[in-house]
Amino acid sequence: KNKKKIMCGIIGIASNKPVSINIINSLKKLEYRGYDSAGLATLTDDSINEKKCSGRVEELEKILFKAPSNGNIGIGHVRWATHGVPNIINAHPHSSEQVSVVHNGIIENSDEIKRELVSKGLKFKSQTDTEVITLLITEALKENEPLKSVYKTLKKLKGSFALGIIFKNFSNIIIGARRGSPLAVGYSKEENYIGSDSYALKSMTNKISYLDDGELCVLTKDQISFYDESLKKINKKIHTMSESETAIDKGEYKHFMLKEIYEQPITIKNCISEYVDSLKKNINIINFPIEPNNINKIVLVGCGTAYNSCLTAKYWFEELTTIDVEIDIASEFRYRKLKFNSKNLYIFVSQSGETADTAAALDLCKKNNVKTCSIVNVIESTIARNSDWVLPIHAGTEIGVASTKAFLGQLTVLYILCLKLAIVRKDIDERTYVKNINNLKKLPEAIKECINIESNVQLMAKEFLSAKGSMFLGRGSSFPIALEGALKLKELSYLHAEGYPAGEMKHGPLALIEEGLPVIILAPKDKYFEKTLSNMQEVIARGGKILFITDNKKDSLNENIRFGLRVPHLDNLLSPILLTLPLQMLAYHVALLKNCDVDKPRNLAKSVTVE
Ligand code: G6P
Repeated sequence: KNKKKIMCGIIGIASNKPVSINIINSLKKLEYRGYDSAGLATLTDDSINEKKCSGRVEELEKILFKAPSNGNIGIGHVRWATHGVPNIINAHPHSSEQVSVVHNGIIENSDEIKRELVSKGLKFKSQTDTEVITLLITEALKENEPLKSVYKTLKKLKGSFALGIIFKNFSNIIIGARRGSPLAVGYSKEENYIGSDSYALKSMTNKISYLDDGELCVLTKDQISFYDESLKKINKKIHTMSESETAIDKGEYKHFMLKEIYEQPITIKNCISEYVDSLKKNINIINFPIEPNNINKIVLVGCGTAYNSCLTAKYWFEELTTIDVEIDIASEFRYRKLKFNSKNLYIFVSQSGETADTAAALDLCKKNNVKTCSIVNVIESTIARNSDWVLPIHAGTEIGVASTKAFLGQLTVLYILCLKLAIVRKDIDERTYVKNINNLKKLPEAIKECINIESNVQLMAKEFLSAKGSMFLGRGSSFPIALEGALKLKELSYLHAEGYPAGEMKHGPLALIEEGLPVIILAPKDKYFEKTLSNMQEVIARGGKILFITDNKKDSLNENIRFGLRVPHLDNLLSPILLTLPLQMLAYHVALLKNCDVDKPRNLAKSVTVE
């Protein structure tokens, strides 16, 4: 069975001027959600004009360049398929003669509906679940006006969706609807919008509302009406988005990823200044959802890179507080048989705030009436809006699919939260608190120094090209950074890499070591330093090619080490943050040497909104 599950970006514009160029521009911003096919539909001379392609939005742009689409109303889509081959036929929009639909989400009962419609003699063009929506609305339009037709259709659908719909015979409206997948609505002069996120609308407006689950909207170029799940007209709050977010073009950089790596001294400085009162030497985090002294346990949940930040934070909470800490991958957490406890604080870490597994894990907590906190980059996101308490990371828009500045931001906020809990609960004394805050404030400068060692990293990168794979090893809080380093390398260069706790090597992975295999050793001068060196000797003895990264001032390099890098030392607690930088750059340079698409690695997407 060739069922298409999709995770996508959608856009809709109702205007007094042609919309196709702005649809293309918005789709480019939505490519982080998927980039294996794209399409748009506009209304021209009372007919639906559809253009689609497989591949990137760039391809769609070329098609439009040769044959422009007119029309002052239009919808667009970028797709990310998890099943089956993405092709033109399965690309959105899906149109009948009467109606055209873009969809983000999954219709779970599409097979059932399809059978029903086929038995009535209706024909399907694609293998997508979305086309059932197109045909259901088309059928309903025979007896109903557009809003009623959409409403009746939605009642038949199981699953999740954000929709944008245009109608041949009602050529001044776009209908938007949401259940489970995000949908933002934007306002401007003689132009209104729907989009999967506010970022897609940013260059056109900073006035945004968000549909909640079950809600619908009808837009014309000069009006937006909202309806609740029983089709009662409602009013929505309009948010004005701040201008302060960092610029979203690459500037002088070759890739967004490189720009984002280089931005980290600034984004971390911004983040620290949001939370740390430099004058009073205090952290201004207030309104804990649970009184800090009553917190029994902290449960940290995330996916991918965000999970690695949770894993790092566990070491901090254990070191600085008396709170018990548990961590979990969101896709595991949501299906485990958990013992929820109202004295536990459940913290969800996510750059996008839209990751389906993380959002579902959060929902599960809400259903079980426990307190939730989110650490996110996108404050308008679903996860941020659904949690009791939000701690933004203030990293600015991150475009590169492989997360860099958001990871460092997550670590920084988790560390700040940990310090605050430690002092409020009197797990550390005032002197330690102030000392740690002072060190934290030195972090942006130290990050800058780390970035300056780029040329050494370039030399290291060459070692990976001919190797079968690589290992990243560390102990203590360097272990999650080893995982993150390996994840970055896998994502960007498609080379196999494993992150491992150095002490665990002898229990299996040592068998992988052979002559010339690159092995990254993370060895900050902490309580594990000597032990890590012994583990390194075991690797050297089996022919591993050592790339050694330390903050130890004394020379620990020797002839057995192929490359050595030194990062600055602030204190042991902050070493995982500083060790991350050379690993980000290493992955970047290996990908460059291999000619990989750095900002958009194959098979991945920035924000995974399907399970
Ligand atoms: C995707 C991205 C990863 C990211 C993960 C979690 O898989 O490719 O880079 O770490 O999702 O994303 P989030 O937005 O929840 O942090």
